Amino acid sequence: MSGLVVAANRLPIEIGPDGTRTPSPGGLTSALSSVTVEGTQWVGWGGPESGRQSAFECGGLRLHPVSLSTDDIERYYQGFSNSILWPLFHGRLRPVELDRAWWRSYRLVNKRFARAVTRVAPLGGTVWVHDYHLLLVPALIRAERPDLRIGLFLHVPFPNVQLFSMLPWRDAVIKGMLGADLIGFQVADDQANFVAAAGRLVDAQVPGRTLFGGPHRVEADSFPISIDFAHWDSLGDSAKAQARDHRRELAAGCVFLGIDRLDYTKGISQRLQAFGELLDEGRVDTETCSFVQVAVPSRSDVPAYQDERSEVEALVAKINAGHPRKNGTVPVIHIETSLDEAEMAAWYRAADALVVTSLADGMNLVAKEFVAARADLGGSLILSEFAGAAQDLEGALIVNPYDIEAIKDALMAALEMPAAEQASRLETMRAAVRSNDVHRWARIFIDRLESSTRAQAGGTSLRSSCRGFIRSKQAGGLS
Ligand code: F6P
Repeated sequence: MSGLVVAANRLPIEIGPDGTRTPSPGGLTSALSSVTVEGTQWVGWGGPESGRQSAFECGGLRLHPVSLSTDDIERYYQGFSNSILWPLFHGRLRPVELDRAWWRSYRLVNKRFARAVTRVAPLGGTVWVHDYHLLLVPALIRAERPDLRIGLFLHVPFPNVQLFSMLPWRDAVIKGMLGADLIGFQVADDQANFVAAAGRLVDAQVPGRTLFGGPHRVEADSFPISIDFAHWDSLGDSAKAQARDHRRELAAGCVFLGIDRLDYTKGISQRLQAFGELLDEGRVDTETCSFVQVAVPSRSDVPAYQDERSEVEALVAKINAGHPRKNGTVPVIHIETSLDEAEMAAWYRAADALVVTSLADGMNLVAKEFVAARADLGGSLILSEFAGAAQDLEGALIVNPYDIEAIKDALMAALEMPAAEQASRLETMRAAVRSNDVHRWARIFIDRLESSTRAQAGGTSLRSSCRGFIRSKQAGGLS
């Protein structure tokens, strides 16, 4: 698509000390990488080593590294983004530390991102800003470049107005977001929370899904993000043999699986506690029933994440010590490194159930990847009612992750479920993810951005070029 500039905290690749390029962690870059194509420009941070590197081409994209100093990383990324906005937007699962120096840094770094965007965006182009790290960027761009169409997509939940109101910089954040022409949220609740906050805090007028936060019109709606169905379907197919090996190595009668960034929002302890109690009560067999928990360390310089890691490690050790096996193996296998997609697909195929017990979660793409990887129609999905994905995946076993008994019942229900019922539930979920994949998500968002700005200014049509952008990706994509 000509003229598209993506702005996200991370570039799709991270640059290593020796110049090596590895895919960046996280669902955001993986989802966006599968829909951006040739000619797209991407503004973001390329890791600590990207320093002062100038723009470069990668897989047909033009990447513009934004440099972050050690101080920026501490204050803007670990501080304001991940110790204020992250816990606040996830229902205050951890204390929100209102450090004013972090706010100053967030503002400065957002200005740096906005400047990088306005420098490279072509006249009349489209900018797509992503996530909570860059909430001030839309208004900063608009002030400099009113010719640009600006979309903003929030990948995480938006809290209710009472909670959001504790933020001393709440008005500035809302006004920053209102610089966009279209603001996308994962689910309708997030959209409604934002509209309520904008109405109450900055007096935005709100007729329906349209807000007037100043001289221009802003639309806010939900656009549930998804995955590349065909890609994960094929990865699942290629992983059959490795999945069989996993089950053989585990001598498994049953395998429960969790795959997450190690984050306190994911409810990892809750699911492990439920499994431990089933072992205690003899409802599952210590010798043959395993829980494989992949927990990839994340934001490890933030104290709340260090505490979470210690808590999960202690719980794993306790369960394993309490349930020794005759052959010396352990019932909880804790994998603390990141896996590549093929390895993830093999675990998806090996599992009797994927267990997603997030306490709060914008969407949870792992749940959708699991569904796409299970063309064999085997296995169950246990899914928290607080993950956005619960609204898209009818057929999952929905649980309240705070209710340990409910998780235990769901684990047992998954084991006891007849194959025909598993198949029918998976068929329903696969149809939902197949028809609402990440390509459709991007197309719908961009089409809506085009129509909202056309309605406003009678602007030129982007429609045909957006279609080209999506289609050409399906034929190739980021290498
Ligand atoms: O899902 C929220 C999110 O912040 C995404 O933006 C990102 O893909 C992921 O978590 C990884 O987080 P980080 O960039 O902090 O490693």
